[in-house]
Formats: sequence, structure tokens, C-alpha cells
Amino acid sequence: MDLVTVLHMNSAANHQCSYANNSSLQKNVILRSKKVLDDTIKDFGTRHGFSKCFTLADLGCSSGPNAFLSLTHIINGVKALCQEKTLKPPTEFQIFLNDLPNNDFNALFRVAPAFLSKLENENGYEKSLNSFISGVPGSFYTRLFPSESLHFVHSSYSVHWLSQIPDKLHDNNKGNVYLAKSSPPSVHEAYFNQFKKDFTIFLRMRSVEMIPKGRMVLTLIGRTSNRNYNSVHHDILAKSLQDMLAEGLLEEKDINSFNIPLYYPSVSELEALVESESSFSLDRIETFEVNWDTRDKDEITKSGESSGQFIAKICRAFSEPLLASHFGNTYMDKIFERYAVHTTHQLSKEKITSFNIVVSLTKKCNNN
Ligand SMILES: C[S@@+](CC[C@H](N)C(=O)[O-])C[C@H]1O[C@@H](n2cnc3c(N)ncnc32)[C@H](O)[C@@H]1O
Repeated sequence: MDLVTVLHMNSAANHQCSYANNSSLQKNVILRSKKVLDDTIKDFGTRHGFSKCFTLADLGCSSGPNAFLSLTHIINGVKALCQEKTLKPPTEFQIFLNDLPNNDFNALFRVAPAFLSKLENENGYEKSLNSFISGVPGSFYTRLFPSESLHFVHSSYSVHWLSQIPDKLHDNNKGNVYLAKSSPPSVHEAYFNQFKKDFTIFLRMRSVEMIPKGRMVLTLIGRTSNRNYNSVHHDILAKSLQDMLAEGLLEEKDINSFNIPLYYPSVSELEALVESESSFSLDRIETFEVNWDTRDKDEITKSGESSGQFIAKICRAFSEPLLASHFGNTYMDKIFERYAVHTTHQLSKEKITSFNIVVSLTKKCNNN
């Protein structure tokens, strides 16, 4: 499977199941990591001030409102800091929205002008703010920007996606779609090695593209400890596929060869990789948990949608294109009906949450 051409979130046309309409979990994560983002901008601006044009990139932006939420936080953060410290604000923002080529960039571009005018009006930037938004299709595991051209890089819920399904899994991860309790050590090793390679390349590429002392804030799903590989949402997907097998709808060999190209690192794995790659200093690392069902009781009652169904739609929005490319489109509704049932059962025992890691990094100067 060539992930660069296959991987994307469900597009806007897939209304009910689109990423844009089913990414409240990721929205919550962006809101929870805002403090680290704000503090990073403050630190950058206070130390270095801003040049006339502030250049920033959101990597793995996808095609929903979340892409604009992160940008709003960054631009408002710059504005607030300049007011507070009477710094000269940038008069231009060059904004790059990056994702893989099959991302629904059209949906993103359709709402970009409205976003920009709202931002300018809300911000009292009058007409002096010139913001230029461009889409950058390509993998962030390759070079995407000219050398030393970026002041700020942001990425949320994207860098845990691998560049490929780990090599050498063979049939060793039978019955699972990701690392699970029953995955043998060789599978753990294969996943970790792929992440190590990818994350190191990611840092290396950004280190070329960012100005010295440029800042980067990354938020990704992580693990609470090196030993904890529990990932309930993937276990539920594996169970749902097994149901399809039991009904004779999917074949065992196809299920056994399906593995999700994600890796959730631990804090210490991330720290070690930043240190060994050596282009960035790690200024801050924070962790927090979020519930997959982001709604309060009233919202749940009003929507008439159970938590199981709600969570199934979140999972579908990010995993359907991968599943469809492997198994075909026919049984997607059925798979996610099963997913909702298993989730409801799981929720009767425990909450379904994600453990998240936010890191704030500074690109080192060549001489340190
Ligand atoms: C779960 S979405 C996150 C979107 C958005 N940042 C948010 O927080 O809602 C992950 C995005 O990362 C993108 N992605 C995964 N691997 C990528 C890569 N190698 N290069 C660029 N984008 C990638 C996916 O296509 C997807 O749109």
C-alpha cells in the first residue's frame, strides 16, 4: 500500500462520515494544547521579535475547521503578544497548509477566504494584515519548503502517522490491526523502528526548512509508559473485522495483512529521538488525556446518538480510506455498525480516552 496516495481523512463530500464533521476529539486536543502553543509564541516573540512577514506551516492539516482553529490560535497569539509587549507586529502572514495529496484541499480552500476576513475583522488588524494561504501537498517525511524559510511549525494529531506500514510484520500480528497485548515483540520492534526512522527524518527535514531558533509545537497520541501498548480503539476495530470474518464477509488473509500505519510513542521515546537527531532542543513536554466522546449529557440526549455510534464515526472519519483501499468499500457501514456495538460494550466497563503528548521545540543554531 502506497500511503502517500492512499492515506487521507474522509472528505467533505462524505458528509455524514467526513473528517470535517467528525473531528471533535481532535478539536478538543487542539484546545487543550493551546497553552503550550501560546507560551511558545510568547517566548519566541519576546526573545527575537517578529519580522515583517511571519511564516508558519500547519503540517497534516486535513480538511476541517481544525486547520483554521490552530492558525487562529497562532495568529491571535502573535497579535496579543505584540500588544502586551508593545512589539512591532508582523504585517504579513505567510500560511502554509500541508497534507498528503489526496487530502480534500478543495474543501479547505473554499472556506479559506471567509476565515481570513473573520480573522482580520476580529483582530482589529484592519486592512493592514495581509495573510497569504497556500496548500502544500506532499509528505512531511520529505522536504516541503525552501531552506530556512519557516518561523513556526505546528502539527496536531498527524506525526503519529507513519510513512508506511512497518516492514517485516509478515503474518506475525494476526488478529490485530495495531500493537496489541497479543502482538509478539518482533511486531513491537517493527513499529518502533518505523517510527524512529520517520520521526528522525521529520525532524531533519524541518531543521533544514526552519530559521535558526524557529519554533515547532507538535501534538500526538502517545503511551502512558514504555510498557503500555493498550489501544482500545484499535482493539475494537480488530474485533469488528473478526465479526466480518465470522459472517463470511471478509477473508482471513486480508484481515491478517491489515495493519494501521500509526505509532503512539511514550514520552521517553520522544525525548530520546529528539536528543539523538540533535537539530532541536526540547523546551517543554506536556501530557493530557481526552475522552473520545467529547459531548456533555445534554448534547448526548439532544443528538439521539449513543456514545458508541459517536465514537464509531470518529474512527470511521480517519480510518475509512485505509480500510476501503484494503478491503473494498462494500462493508464499511457494517464494519462501523459492529464498531459502535463493541464500543458501547467497552464503555460499560471504562471510558475511551486518548493519552496525548505536546512537545515544544526550538531549532538549534548551527553553533550549538
Ligand atoms: C487526524 S488528521 C489531523 C488533522 C488536523 N491537524 C486536526 O488536528 O484535526 C491527520 C492528518 O495528517 C495527515 N498526514 C498523515 N501523514 C502525513 C504525511 N506523511 N504528510 C503530510 N500529512 C500527513 C493525514 O492525511 C491527515 O489529514
